[in-house]
Amino acid sequence: MTTITGPAPAIVAAGVARSYELDGVSVPALRGVSLTVSAGDYVAIVGTSGSGKSTLMHLLGALDRPTSGQLLIGGRDVATLSPAEMARLRNETIGFVFQSFHLLARTTARDNVALPLVYRGTGRRERRERAAAMLARVGLGHRLDHRPNQMSGGEQQRVAIARALVTGPSVLLADEPTGNLDSATGASVLELLESLNADGVAVVLVTHDRDVAARARRQIVMKDGLIVP
Ligand SMILES: Nc1ncnc2c1ncn2[C@@H]1O[C@H](COP(=O)(O)OP(=O)(O)OP(=O)(O)O)[C@@H](O)[C@H]1O
Ligand SMILES: [Mg+2]
Repeated sequence: MTTITGPAPAIVAAGVARSYELDGVSVPALRGVSLTVSAGDYVAIVGTSGSGKSTLMHLLGALDRPTSGQLLIGGRDVATLSPAEMARLRNETIGFVFQSFHLLARTTARDNVALPLVYRGTGRRERRERAAAMLARVGLGHRLDHRPNQMSGGEQQRVAIARALVTGPSVLLADEPTGNLDSATGASVLELLESLNADGVAVVLVTHDRDVAARARRQIVMKDGLIVP
């Protein structure tokens, strides 16, 4: 009998497809993708616009479900989960950084970062402490009470990363985390992601930047809804 050692993979996608229904027409965004993200992995996803990268990221992040194929996140088959169970799995396992930040506009950096802890039922005092600590970790300890429109793009991106990390996820998914940033700010965001990866967080990022992709442990190239072998 074979004994498999080491930690279980964080995410396993097997033949995953996703089509969008648009005006009665089925748009195949992903056409059968198989991918394993191991614990502590560092993966870059590249590919032309419209190749299905964000669609795949939403699936890996339990924000969406495949139309067909099997997707295991933290060992759980998402097809068997209710929407509430999906939300819980996401909150416990995944940090998601969106390209366009998705911060609440009228809310301070600290309260934006604390939000995922509200869904967990963490008490207010602990929420505030953990949010402040995570903002300090991303170099924003001096911006706790700033709202998004009072921060630079790079600062907002770091708030979004702090929010993704405040729950202590085992997987961080980042869709173009450096896309809107100048090269110096982008480099500091990348260093941050790499220091998290060194701490054992699996990182999957989408990028159009070949130099960014080259720093990952492995690269996945997508084209027309498939992984290019
Ligand atoms: N909600 C939707 N309804 C219909 N079609 C969609 C929807 N979202 C995405 N698509 C289509 O699915 C395909 C893949 O989209 P996706 O957003 O995954 O691409 P992407 O690789 O992330 O592109 P980009 O680099 O521009 O962000 C595209 O052809 C897109 O037009
Ligand atoms: Mg995209």
